[in-house]
Amino acid sequence: MTRIAVVEGDGIGHEVIPVAAEALSTLRPDLELFSVEVGYHRWEVTGCPCGDRDIARLKTADAILFGAVTTPPMKDYQSVVLRIRKELDLYANLRPVKEAGFDILIVRENTEGLYSGIEEIGPDRATTLRVVTRAGTERIVRAAIRETKKRRHLTVGHKANVLKSDVFFRTICQEEVMAAGLVWKERYIDALALDLLLHPTEYDVVVTTNIFGDILSDVASYLVGGLGFVPSANIGDRYALFEPVHGSAPDIAGKDIANPIAALRSAGMLLDYLGDSASASSIESAIALVLSRGIKTRDMCGTAGTREFGAAIVRELERAARR
Ligand code: NAD
Ligand code: IPM
Ligand code: MN
Repeated sequence: MTRIAVVEGDGIGHEVIPVAAEALSTLRPDLELFSVEVGYHRWEVTGCPCGDRDIARLKTADAILFGAVTTPPMKDYQSVVLRIRKELDLYANLRPVKEAGFDILIVRENTEGLYSGIEEIGPDRATTLRVVTRAGTERIVRAAIRETKKRRHLTVGHKANVLKSDVFFRTICQEEVMAAGLVWKERYIDALALDLLLHPTEYDVVVTTNIFGDILSDVASYLVGGLGFVPSANIGDRYALFEPVHGSAPDIAGKDIANPIAALRSAGMLLDYLGDSASASSIESAIALVLSRGIKTRDMCGTAGTREFGAAIVRELERAARR
């Protein structure tokens, strides 16, 4: 039995994940879905956003479908999603941004860099250490190279003109890319962020460090209609977690207006990871069909609610299964 942990988290996680989970169960009734409750709301109620037992339960799953958690800007609060990424060692964060005409895959290092967690706040000074290791860089660039071999070319995004940690990152990327016999392209991350928007067709796989990948993927979502559309996979050597790139969106939470496409596509990436590419493409086809009928959420200037959009997707998946 393949077991999928389902984490709604906070905010619109409670709205978009039920849609994605229903799509999963419709396509694959054989999957056993079990829910794990973690997040900021849980911290407000119990004082613990995510316990060791929750991490242990997540580790029993074959894959995790994750919504989003609220991470408040507080000194002593640890982000649940960052903890899970670290504890499950989900070092490769794959964020595809594609539409007719371009197909970009952002490969974001997910465990170190500015997110190393080595930091302190003093009365007059605060520091966050940006840690870039050889092992961490080798494994992310190798993951990017594996993806590139299935595709076209690779761009390394960095800020080696300023950051010595990126001189290090760039050098290791260059060594690995040359050893793999691939073409070497690189761009400073600031220029890259604009150029992705201006010339998306010129990019394929883009590998970069943690926070640059975080920012770049939100920026790149502009190319496909915004954050409601971009899914992601967080992959390690043993575990895998699939989540939309967007967050808990407190500004629209509870209003039934969130776009569930990013969550549905994350479920699609999960199915691909399980080796079921047929079901993954059924999700993409159902999205295209539902949109072609004019059923759209508010971010697409439509009037359909999250639930209505989700129901239309599930009807389409059921119809396709009968054909
Ligand atoms: P956000 O992604 O939640 O929202 C940014 C903007 O995009 C908001 O205006 C929101 O309404 C809109 N948006 C996001 N998803 C949408 C969707 N599916 N449909 C329609 N509109 C959508 O980012 P934020 O506001 O900066 O962060 C809110 C909270 O989420 C913060 O606490 C942040 O730390 C957290 N966050 C969590 C994750 C995660 O758990 N993986 C990711 C990003 C942000
Ligand atoms: C993301 C989010 C997270 C990150 C936050 C909420 C910790 O922005 O998944 O893109 O920075 O990685
Ligand atoms: Mn982000």
